[in-house]
Amino acid sequence: MKSLCGNSKQLSLLSRKRVVITIDGPAASGKSTAARLLAKKLGYLYLDTGTMYRALTWKALRDKVDIKNPKALSDLARNTRIFLKPESDLNIRIYLDGKDVTSSIRSPEVNNYVSLVSAAGGLREVMVAQQREIANRGSLIAEGRDMGTVVFPEADVKIFLEASFQERAKRRWKENKEKGLSITREEVETELANRDRIDSQRKISPLKRAKGALVIDNSHMDIPQTVEKMWEIVTKKMKC
Ligand code: DC
Repeated sequence: MKSLCGNSKQLSLLSRKRVVITIDGPAASGKSTAARLLAKKLGYLYLDTGTMYRALTWKALRDKVDIKNPKALSDLARNTRIFLKPESDLNIRIYLDGKDVTSSIRSPEVNNYVSLVSAAGGLREVMVAQQREIANRGSLIAEGRDMGTVVFPEADVKIFLEASFQERAKRRWKENKEKGLSITREEVETELANRDRIDSQRKISPLKRAKGALVIDNSHMDIPQTVEKMWEIVTKKMKC
């Protein structure tokens, strides 16, 4: 683990303990990239929980699982092996039952259904247990929707990252364009609005600010500025 503070006494205290930093926020707020870079800077594990729900959605669509049937979804989660393999640059490859699904889980079809699949309580229980298991392996940055509220309520630092709807839609549209996907701005806005609505209004583990979370609105920040702001929050909170 890298030093958060220059002071060796503080460092030894910190390095004896596993640190958990949670980053929650809506789709296209830049969470994944910023969280990954922050994890790299700290030398922590990086857990992108959205990939787990995406992988299950991809499998549900492939196997034509009835996504309106919560029991079918919890069975699916129980019978699936998800493995997140960090690469040297901290990008993560996602394996589902041994198959590399890293690109497939970013398809527009998965985008359209992932909020519905991830609203199922039984399926979430299986995922939450796996997420907590991963946290036993070392200090980590956990990123998602319910990291600070449900999965790691005792986290050392909690961050809520948000940006205006227009800014997030612009980012998502640009991302799709760079991938060669011809999706109109209107379609992007509809998809994003749907996901925002389902993610924040669902009964189980809705997206919301955790108690004690510090809010960053990065509508007018780029990724390096966002990471810098997160770094400031983390080091201040750790009383460096
Ligand atoms: O972060 P993302 O856009 O890759 O997440 C995809 C979906 O997964 C998101 O719309 C809601 C769901 N999700 C969730 O319910 N809980 C999490 N901790 C992470 C993601």
